[in-house]
Amino acid sequence: MKLLIATHNQGKVKEIAQMLADAKIECLSLSDANVTFDVDETGTTFLDNATLKAVQYAQLTNLPTLADDSGLEVDALNGEPGVYTARYGGKELSQPERNQFLLQNLKNEANRGARFQCMMVLCDPTGKVQAQEQGTLEGEIGFEPRGEHGFGYDPVFVVDGRTLAEREAAEKKLISHRGRALFAILPSIEKLLTNSG
Ligand code: IMP
Repeated sequence: MKLLIATHNQGKVKEIAQMLADAKIECLSLSDANVTFDVDETGTTFLDNATLKAVQYAQLTNLPTLADDSGLEVDALNGEPGVYTARYGGKELSQPERNQFLLQNLKNEANRGARFQCMMVLCDPTGKVQAQEQGTLEGEIGFEPRGEHGFGYDPVFVVDGRTLAEREAAEKKLISHRGRALFAILPSIEKLLTNSG
């Protein structure tokens, strides 16, 4: 049985599907499953939003479902944008504009500390939560965008002197918040797929 990756973010689908392919787990994206419905992310924590997505998309499709809610916490912004990362600076901004908005807000700021957070929730085909796991990646916000790989805020997120966008997917997965959360939840995915397959 295939696992539904419950996100409309193609960057996330690609990363998760690649990581799960290594474990021989076949994935479906929401568009593969013909789902156009968009879950309202009304939660105030990553766990709330990941749970909303996993439960509702599982119930809609009757498939084992993995949802990811993730975002950026910036120390100098008191942990913002957090759960609002996808909408930071306004819905109408493109991602490069969003990255510039963040850089502008940190213009004269010496404290560049930040982290990516990822919460993953796994549901069975009835929408019952089977597991939840978290992953964190500590880093800092750079001074200009660098690199062509990845997605989202990768060009402005620096780890050990290089942005995530300057790293190939295989390298990012070893250190990333998403890679860590996925590694932790993998045994539960394998168990669920074995039991429902
Ligand atoms: P969500 O889809 O509501 O979880 O929003 C996640 C937000 O965080 C989006 O703006 C993503 O671009 C951003 N984000 C999450 N993970 C990453 C990552 O690995 N790299 C860059 N941006 C990320």
